[in-house]
Amino acid sequence: MAEDRSEVDGTGHLWMEGKTLVELRADQERPTHMPRGPAKRTGPGFLNPAMAPARTRSVLLLADALEHHWLVKEDHDLRAMDALCATGVRVRRWRNEIPAEHQERLRITANDLDNVALEQLKHAHERYPPLISVGHAVEDDRYNRTPQGGMHNGLFIMQNDARIALMEAAYQWVDLDPFGSPVNFLDAAIQGLSRTAFLEVTATDTAALTGSSASSQHRRYGAKGIVDSYAHDDAVRVLLGLIATTAARHDRCIEPVLALFDGHHVRVSVKVRRSRDGASHVLDSMGWRVRAANGTYEFVHHPSPDEVERASGPLWIGPLWNRDIAGRMTQERAVAMCSPSESELLTLREAGLVWSEADQEYAQRELRRSVRYIAEAADLMSKEHTLYHMDDLPNMAGTGQAPKMEVLFTALDEAGFSAARVPDIDPFFVTDASFADVMATTRALVGSSGD
Ligand SMILES: C[S@@+](CC[C@H](N)C(=O)[O-])C[C@H]1O[C@@H](n2cnc3c(N)ncnc32)[C@H](O)[C@@H]1O
Repeated sequence: MAEDRSEVDGTGHLWMEGKTLVELRADQERPTHMPRGPAKRTGPGFLNPAMAPARTRSVLLLADALEHHWLVKEDHDLRAMDALCATGVRVRRWRNEIPAEHQERLRITANDLDNVALEQLKHAHERYPPLISVGHAVEDDRYNRTPQGGMHNGLFIMQNDARIALMEAAYQWVDLDPFGSPVNFLDAAIQGLSRTAFLEVTATDTAALTGSSASSQHRRYGAKGIVDSYAHDDAVRVLLGLIATTAARHDRCIEPVLALFDGHHVRVSVKVRRSRDGASHVLDSMGWRVRAANGTYEFVHHPSPDEVERASGPLWIGPLWNRDIAGRMTQERAVAMCSPSESELLTLREAGLVWSEADQEYAQRELRRSVRYIAEAADLMSKEHTLYHMDDLPNMAGTGQAPKMEVLFTALDEAGFSAARVPDIDPFFVTDASFADVMATTRALVGSSGD
């Protein structure tokens, strides 16, 4: 087995995320293959392995945009920036894992304030270069002033306050992945985007977004929450609401493509388009979730005085996903794009990666898990639907127990409806069936508790 050279050098150890080699700090434990929850450690050079699924989805989305031309025309370049890139794993994965035929059109900028992290990025990128080399020159004509930074084998790397970096040149793809809340960066990000663009935002301040920290939610997001089964979905919609209203202030409108509550963070991906008309209609998609006596909810634009107590918002009440784009985010695609082939794995092992067959199996499982349930739920999540928490169903239906999810889906399907599991840490499903139909189907499957 190949020797783990990085251990020998004392710089840390080598890990693989997707099919990209990552140097971990010497004091960072080798990640388990399914890390969940917030990382225990932070600081310069620390890679949060729990964010790997979000980075995998980012690779898939960017590849999809280049392949299906929904952001820039077929013969145009796409300029992407990770504004808070840390050690640059995301940008290195973009460069390394997006198919070769799109790489020439992809111009990547990596920015962070932290020099230690950027040095680590440069070191890793030089020592473990992408499989394909692209020879882009610096596009200094695009910047208001010559940018402080340099080109490193197809990545433009700069050290700047993200709010300045975002405003300095127009990007079509911006990734905002701060520690905690993204609110401080949103105005600059939206203003800096090109006319038609894509914005991906991570927020780890889930206590604020769900409303479990009511004062932070009020302060940062101007919203009020209710911590119940719908708090995860509320968190996603509160963040989307803030992005939509921020965009509207800058004459832009948004169209969500993917929006997920991924355990310890919320991640939303939206198209942003310059349009005064679209921006003027932002309030059509803003409202409140009012809890109903039967345990579900409805969205309203304005709660009546007697509804306020049972309402959370204001939040985004429009569609959450784009059917076609999310529908293409399959497990097969994740593995095909982000897992190394046998010969690639051989090359990576020769470069010093210690990677057993079991590691490879776990890594593929993790890649599949990154997109699990997305393609199947894409249609429902992109139109009007109702969410149910499986654990609430017995109470709602008075059945004492819940049917198996797959059995319920088959029964709903046979009754002419659609239902699918939602990617969430909790067992949620989404359906277009009415409350009465969901209850009747549940009772028909498991009987009511009096039976
Ligand atoms: C959560 S990390 C980013 C992780 C990275 N996107 C990834 O996928 O690995 C947040 C980063 O934001 C950087 N940062 C914080 N405030 C900043 C600012 N105002 N401008 C630029 N970078 C900043 C920190 O140095 C840190 O590296």
